[in-house]
Amino acid sequence: VRTPTKEDRFSFGLWTVGWNAVDPFGTGTRPVLDPWEYTARLAELGAWGITFHDNDVFDFDASQTEREQRVRRVRKVADEAGLVIEMVTTNTFTHPVFKDGGLTSNDRGVRRFALRKLLRNVDLAAQLGATTFVMWGGREGAEYDSSKDLGAAFERYKEGLDTVAGYIRSQGYSLRIGLEPKPNEPRGDILLPTVGHALALIAELDNGEVVGLNPEVGHEQMAGLNYTHGIAQALVAGKLFHIDLNGQSGIKYDQDKVFGHGDLASAFFTVDLLENGFPGGGPRYEGPRHFDYKPSRTEGLEGVWASAAANMEMYLMLADKARAFRADPATAELMDKASVPELAQPTLAPGESVADLLADTSAYEDFDATAAGAREYHFVELYHHAMRHLIG
Ligand code: GCO
Ligand code: MN
Ligand code: MN
Ligand code: MN
Repeated sequence: VRTPTKEDRFSFGLWTVGWNAVDPFGTGTRPVLDPWEYTARLAELGAWGITFHDNDVFDFDASQTEREQRVRRVRKVADEAGLVIEMVTTNTFTHPVFKDGGLTSNDRGVRRFALRKLLRNVDLAAQLGATTFVMWGGREGAEYDSSKDLGAAFERYKEGLDTVAGYIRSQGYSLRIGLEPKPNEPRGDILLPTVGHALALIAELDNGEVVGLNPEVGHEQMAGLNYTHGIAQALVAGKLFHIDLNGQSGIKYDQDKVFGHGDLASAFFTVDLLENGFPGGGPRYEGPRHFDYKPSRTEGLEGVWASAAANMEMYLMLADKARAFRADPATAELMDKASVPELAQPTLAPGESVADLLADTSAYEDFDATAAGAREYHFVELYHHAMRHLIG
């Protein structure tokens, strides 16, 4: 496999390789490092960009001077390494003040504080030239259904998002918000649990044009859902602004494994969509290939860098295989037998009205449903052919 280059547009959250492996059951297994101690290593491995939460760089209670100094230091190390700061996100989950959420906390004072923290971070994101502002509402949710006026919670969520989105527009920033759905963890149930829930809420916003999605592989899979289907619907809606690639094995806690180190076949079809688009054309994903994974707690610093490289290598291997799969004449033949291209053809003919359809006896009265019900689709052969490309 070739070495990744800047053209691949791979990016990493500083909280991924920078994680010292504290978990709810144990203390850290790796040293706590400052961003400038490891950022350049990402560039050496072939990454193009970095992303971070405000509090990955400076503490929650940092003074204005400290905040500026630390941001300047990260910026300098990124510039020197030729890394783009493509996305900035806000920590509205670690501090106890956010234990019942930020934008949807029952406590109005907390909501106003969260909004101020978010708006301050929007300014920082714009100042650093980021193009995406991810909003993962990990603490927006509940353990107890009796604890929330859910109707009000969704109203407050919309109010908060509209306020942040409206601010971005009024400042003329070329930033777009990427909502990141997740079904649970750290809350028992998180609001906006899936891509579909988030898309529905975005459609109700006043400033929804600057709000889209940052779907994470593992989060959809924690809900038992198909990630590729989720990002496909976001693409069709013009809302796939950013992605979080990682690995997850089934419906359990958020594993944040290396991309492909979970459901490998699903990762193949995700890369196939990202690299090759829909078979019949349509909207394409143009954003960064962003990894949000956690080097497992068993790994030391060698494992941190080996796993970071593994994400990019996995993506490139899958991209090669997906390209070969699409270019293979046998694939085209099986796709034809499966009528895959036919789905891109509108069901009504150009200019055909409902009245025309109702008058078309070949569509209903004379349609041979028995024959259509007996046809072969060859879907298993087509899928198996993809598997030949993947592991053959
Ligand atoms: C998770 C989430 C977070 C977010 C990040 C960006 O693991 O639950 O993926 O890592 O992506 O906080 O806001
Ligand atoms: Mn995750
Ligand atoms: Mn994520
Ligand atoms: Mn994550």
